This record gives sequence, structure tokens and C-alpha cells, in this order.
Amino acid sequence: MEIKVIGTGSYVPERTLTNEDLEQIVETSDAWIRERTGIGSRRITEAGTTAMAVEAAKRALEMAQTAPEALDLIIVGTSTGDCLFPGTACEVQAALGAAGAACFDLSAACSGFLFSLNTACVYLESGAYQRALVIGADTLSKTVDWSDRSTCILFGDGAGAAVFERVEAAGGETGADGRKRADPDGSAGGRMQKTWGHESRVGPFIMKADGGRGEVLHCAGTPLRNPFIKEETGNKEKGFGYMTMNGQEVFRFAVKTVPEVLEALLEKAEVPPEDIRYFILHQANERIIAAVAKRMKQPIEKFPMNLERYGNTSGASIPILLDEMNREGKLARGDKLALAGFGAGLTWGATLLLW
Ligand code: UT7
Repeated sequence: MEIKVIGTGSYVPERTLTNEDLEQIVETSDAWIRERTGIGSRRITEAGTTAMAVEAAKRALEMAQTAPEALDLIIVGTSTGDCLFPGTACEVQAALGAAGAACFDLSAACSGFLFSLNTACVYLESGAYQRALVIGADTLSKTVDWSDRSTCILFGDGAGAAVFERVEAAGGETGADGRKRADPDGSAGGRMQKTWGHESRVGPFIMKADGGRGEVLHCAGTPLRNPFIKEETGNKEKGFGYMTMNGQEVFRFAVKTVPEVLEALLEKAEVPPEDIRYFILHQANERIIAAVAKRMKQPIEKFPMNLERYGNTSGASIPILLDEMNREGKLARGDKLALAGFGAGLTWGATLLLW
């Protein structure tokens, strides 16, 4: 048994907001934003998270040559759905006509796609489902305080998607679990070595969280509105607000945890960093990515970036980049890819993919 990526897709809104546009609304400059973040522009949606997710999904399904009806599972990694309910995944299901799929959202902020991918693959591995559509989609533009220059320059909107399929290995020996195994000698212990061969496959993963540090990157939800809340609790004040962020804290957290989780994952998989063709990281800040590359003693060329064009698209950043690289022909069969994300929660994690 192996799990393959059979299609990728992405969508970013047409409307572009440049650094020069932001100079008109806050005290900032193109030079400052580029130097501190690497961001040149970002896209802003007028249609919302579901519309972007549906477009990315259609593109992924087209590449996968898979009909929506053939999907068993849709997971959307998002923290900015258009509604509190139904979930974005249900709305995507309706728009696609994927009547047979189980659908739910997964809220892990910028780690949303990565956590959703891992979750979907565990379902596929278990044999519960055959085909899964995984989407990362976010509209951070609606959470940003457009008068706060320390956050409004960072974020953009977008969506990325990938279709995963469980396939029984042709030939191969039957394992103790009664399933066909891709590597008959079964010498390796991890999920990745068991299945890494000539096809695109998903390897092992690590997911981490530190809920005790939620205030570092925070956005309050809808207010408590029932008439029974006592005024003195102060809970009525916890209404929907704007994002607040301690940028330096998030920066420090990212440059520490991302290399750590990548190194731990590579060790677990017994893959040296030199064997990784690309490190596809959450696109938050060029300086964070450069610091990770330096810490891992890997050339920066192995860390592709598109944040100059899109800014930080939260849960969408990894699948948008993956799809762009795929469509540009930059991924060759057999390439080992390491994906890593981090964000509010705090959450962070990494996953290996064999293309
Ligand atoms: O998905 C995760 C999302 N979050 C992140 O990725 C955030 C990670 N953190 C960062 O990327 C960086 O911390 C920032 C880009 C947010 C800020 O960069 P920094 O180098 O940490 O700047 P700073 O917060 O230390 O601020 C330095 C100065 C301050 O002025 P003073 O106090 O030195 O006079 C800020 O007020 O830069 C000022 N500043 C700005 N100046 C021009 C902050 N934002 C801006 C701005 N334009 N947009």
C-alpha cells in the first residue's frame, strides 16, 4: 500500500496589494517591508475563503483526473472560514458535487494544510478511505487591523489543494497485515522507508503544539451574546477582534522550532538533509527561511519561496508553493521533499513527501 499525490492546484485572487499601496494607509515603506520580510505584494480576496478553496480544488482534481464523486474525504485547513458553520469543507463539497465525501475543517492556523495532509493520510493508510482532497485556504485580510503596520504588511489571501490516493502496490509481498507491501524486504522501520520507491508518496510526519503560548498570535472569535453572562466575568468583552501578534516572539519561535522539527523528522526517517531536494516551508518571512537554511547548513537554493508575490497566506502557503513548483516542472520523480509549517496555537510540524 502506498499513498500518492495525484494532483495539485492553487488559486490566488486577482486583486494585488503592493507595498506602495500600503504606504498610502500606514507609516511604512517598500524598502522596510522588503528588507524585513522579503514581501513585495499580496493578493486580497473579494469572494472569501470558500470561493478560493473551490477554485484550487477544481484545479487539483483536473490534474488528478479525478471526478468529485470519487472523493471519500475532504479536509480544509483553515482558520478563516466564511461561516462558523457549515464548515468550509462542506461548502466545497456542495460546490464540487462531491456527494460521497466526509467533510470537515481543521483549525491549526498556518500549520493547517500540513496538519490536514497528515490527518488525511492516516485515514488513507488505515484503509478507511481511498481518495482525499486536502485544501489549505485562508483569508487573513479579514482578520488584519489595517492600521497596524506590524501585521497588515505581512498577510495575503489564497488557497492550495492536493489530491491523495491510496493504492495497493502492484506485485510485492503481502505483509503481516494482509496488505501488499511496496518494499518486499521491509528493511526500514518508518512509514516513509516502507513505501518510498518510484512513485510520489507521503512519508512520516511530526506535529507539535504549545497551547500555552496562544496569546503570541491571536484573533478572537464571535462574542458571547447570551443574556445570562454576568458582566463581572468580562467575557462579554471577548468579542471578535483583529489579529494581535508579538512579531519578535513568533520569529524566535519559528527559527528555533522549524529546524528542530525538520532535524527530528529526518533523523526518524533516517534521511540525511543532503538527500532532501527541496525544503518547502511555510512562507512567512524570507529571513525566517534563510535562518532555517543556515541552521540546517543547507543551501538557500533548496528553500523555494514565493512570498515576494503573495506574502504570508497562512494555511495556503505550502500547497500554493507546492502546486507552483509542480506546474513549473521543478519536481522530478524521486525528489525527496520536506514540508514544514508553523503558526498560531502555537502549532508547528513537518512531513516528508517523495515525488
Ligand atoms: O505565520 C506566522 C505569522 N507571523 C510571522 O511570521 C511573524 C514573524 N515575525 C516577523 O516577521 C518580524 O518580527 C516582523 C516582520 C513582524 C517585524 O520585524 P522585526 O525586524 O522583528 O521588527 P521589530 O518588530 O523589531 O520592529 C523594528 C522597528 C520598530 O520601530 P522602533 O521601535 O525600532 O522605532 C517598529 O515599530 O520597525 C518598526 N516597524 C515598522 N517600520 C516600518 C514595524 N513594522 C513596520 C513597518 N514599516 N511595517
